[in-house]
Amino acid sequence: MGNIIKKICCIGAGYVGGPTMAVIAEKCPEIEVYVVDMNAERIKKWNDDDLSKLPVFEPGLSEVISKCRNKNLFFTTELKKNLASSDMVFISVNTPTKTRGVGAGQASDLKWIEASARQIAEYAQGHTIVIEKSTLPVKTAQTIKKILMEANQDNSPLKNNLKSFSILSNPEFLAEGTAISDLKNPDRVLIGGEDDKAINALISIYKKWVNKEKIITTDLWSSELSKLVANAFLAQRISSINSISALCEKTGADIKDVSIATGTDKRIGKYFLNAGPGFGGSCFKKDISNLVYICNYYGLAEVSSYWQKVIDINSWQKRRISKIIIEKLFNTLSGKKISVLGFSFKANTNDTRESPSIDICRDLMEEGANISIYDPKVKESQVSAALNIDTFNNSLGYKNFKFASSLNDCMKDSYAVIVLTEWEEFAHLDWDQIYSMMIKPAWIFDTRSIVDKAKVDKAGFNFWRIGS
Ligand code: UDX
Ligand code: ADP
Repeated sequence: MGNIIKKICCIGAGYVGGPTMAVIAEKCPEIEVYVVDMNAERIKKWNDDDLSKLPVFEPGLSEVISKCRNKNLFFTTELKKNLASSDMVFISVNTPTKTRGVGAGQASDLKWIEASARQIAEYAQGHTIVIEKSTLPVKTAQTIKKILMEANQDNSPLKNNLKSFSILSNPEFLAEGTAISDLKNPDRVLIGGEDDKAINALISIYKKWVNKEKIITTDLWSSELSKLVANAFLAQRISSINSISALCEKTGADIKDVSIATGTDKRIGKYFLNAGPGFGGSCFKKDISNLVYICNYYGLAEVSSYWQKVIDINSWQKRRISKIIIEKLFNTLSGKKISVLGFSFKANTNDTRESPSIDICRDLMEEGANISIYDPKVKESQVSAALNIDTFNNSLGYKNFKFASSLNDCMKDSYAVIVLTEWEEFAHLDWDQIYSMMIKPAWIFDTRSIVDKAKVDKAGFNFWRIGS
């Protein structure tokens, strides 16, 4: 049981596992990194010669992949063999919010975590450091530990295999769209655990490119909780600024100015104060829901309802925007073509999980609008899946939307353009030309504050911008 790591296996080749392992492989050429996923189609895409087909779009990712893939970075569905020969295993599987049973709508569904732990228990050999990388409720490491430790007990069919485990929590703080730069230059690396040897083994990997002062070590639970708290604080800032955007609209103040004036106080800080259509992504809502759930579990009703409000304001912001659009278009959308620019939950990612575009498009379709959606990186199949599947009711199923293959196709003959994602290209559109092909009065609703007001005014549009 030494500190020298020769081979890493990561279970889960998603938005976290893929980029994280790619950067570890690039920074540690002496380590072999195997990223394993049970989804063969996803693995095929990770191995595609055409790097535009990678399943995750992240600026800078394809460069790292082309440098390391099939040298010391491998994408495969072969789990058993790779678990058996790895010194270190990362668990980066999906942990969505439960849709049924105890804790539905709040607690995380840990079935993929449990399945991974059982696979590790079965196939790992010798001493293995197991690292929890997925965002998880506090004390999940305990579950993983229990499954792994019992693999070695006398009544286990595996008793003849000599195996032992150390469990660490190493939460991921990367944000999609900037994952590669966040991984290469993190604000901090957090490692939770009790086994100093295992902690040092993981530190020795990060030390290849991260200053020692940025590596924080804690106990397992503090590490798990810190991840939830960091995301809850970030989401809280967005709900705070979004709540004020509504007040600005009523009173004539401008949220952009208020953000700058507020954020220049260094105790507050200027980042993460952009008003918008509400936060999306796979983490914020899920993590706060976990926080709400565990606070309730421990009888902290006030704390729980405090954090629940951050989610409530987020839902309210999305609904508020839909209502404004409906009202401005004479309270009827029936049969009207509405152009939606952007379907990913933020710019520079192809991820649509919890995207505010989903709820806003649904609201508008509910009113009878024909939605035309354009996004530079999201695929038609993702849009269909997101709009057709209601995870809570397994019902709905809208038909009145189209996926536009070009911006022109998206905006021709429409009554309104709604900017929902801040893709750079949406800030540089030819509004004169767009105006000429729309139905009048033509509207622009800018939920990301990226459209040049002077240009759209000149073109003749009616213009609404968040928080002004
Ligand atoms: C987040 C955390 O930032 C990251 O540390 C954690 O590891 C995972 O969760 P991510 O969800 O990928 O990352 O993106 P983030 O940049 O945090 O944006 C989340 C949402 O908030 C997006 O919908 C974004 O548009 C929105 N947002 C962000 C705002 O509306 N305003 C802001 O000022 C910042
Ligand atoms: P994240 O954003 O957390 O990375 P994703 O859903 O993008 O989440 O990726 C998680 C990946 O984990 C999926 O591709 C899924 O197929 C994979 N996965 C989940 N459970 C297992 C398992 N037991 N073995 C292998 N892969 C798994």
